[in-house]
Amino acid sequence: MSVIRSVIAGCGSYLPEKVVTNKQLEDVVDTSDEWIIERTGIRQRHIAAEGELTSDLALEASKRALADADMTADELDLIILATATPDQTFPSTATRVQAALGMTHGAAFDVQAVCSGFVYALATADNFIRSGQARNVLVIGAETFSRILDWEDRTTCVLFGDGAGAVILSAHEGEGKNTDRGILTTHLHSDGRYNDLLYVDGGPSSTKSTGYLRMKGREVFRHAVKNLADVVGESLHAVGLAADDVDIVVPHQANKRILDGTAKKLGIDPEKIVMTVHKHANTSAASIPLALDEAVKQGRISTGDVVILEAMGGGFTWGACLLRW
Ligand code: UT7
Repeated sequence: MSVIRSVIAGCGSYLPEKVVTNKQLEDVVDTSDEWIIERTGIRQRHIAAEGELTSDLALEASKRALADADMTADELDLIILATATPDQTFPSTATRVQAALGMTHGAAFDVQAVCSGFVYALATADNFIRSGQARNVLVIGAETFSRILDWEDRTTCVLFGDGAGAVILSAHEGEGKNTDRGILTTHLHSDGRYNDLLYVDGGPSSTKSTGYLRMKGREVFRHAVKNLADVVGESLHAVGLAADDVDIVVPHQANKRILDGTAKKLGIDPEKIVMTVHKHANTSAASIPLALDEAVKQGRISTGDVVILEAMGGGFTWGACLLRW
């Protein structure tokens, strides 16, 4: 039976020029390079320049993804942008990127699932493609988390960074088997009871201001390993594959200990886990496409490889996307 599959036709990423090391943060809050490395694996993060917006980072990543796919914006039907740090409350950052790409056809919208945003956006794009409503979709994860950090709160400000990544998803013919190229399955979850473990203490409807990120890190950590291992297991089960069949995992980059713990729980060789958290810190919705682009450019992913993307974030939200490259 012939089915439509969403294949990643190209990817790109962009990081702001400015790098801030852990050592530099020692001058900002009561912290140490040693503590940050030992508890998180983070060594540095990129921070957007003044006036450099989420849409600017997204645009650069998108141009690179289009070039990688050898496509122009004319060929896109849809733009889906995952962010928790939009340029404005409205309109969507996706429409700003659309305009900057010179695209006046199709549609563009934002998706908000914080650190799980890119997986949510990919799942949404995949459904548009499989239902025949779009053939080429630009999917972006872009954040300027530095703008919502409380730079006096050492428990959060050392953990995050800015950046953007993008992929082009294109419709291809498949046979409906797990040997097809493209996205084989996506699984999304949320549980709003955990809102107050990771949130921003402001918003247009509550405080009429942006607010700052607040997190009960230890509790988030506890849920993360379990939820991520569960959703990866669910994805493998859905397509009849086992942990041994996985060639590479591109996880959301929040904490090296979460990545190690999830790999161990799933029985996946740590060598198969793409790790960029030491260089980028946690860039929320941007972290998976940033890590994916790096892995692709390093030649770590080959045609036919089984790839898992997985993330967990505020809400709580979590999810996974299993694809064959
Ligand atoms: O992307 C969305 C998902 N987010 C996550 O997945 C984040 C999940 N959580 C984590 O990654 C970790 O819980 C953290 C990295 C946030 C914290 O690590 P932890 O090992 O859970 O540390 P903790 O919160 O239990 O704090 C241990 C100690 C505390 O001191 P006391 O109370 O033991 O005296 C903190 O005050 O470390 C202290 N501490 C710091 N010390 C130096 C907290 N932040 C810092 C800091 N520098 N930046």
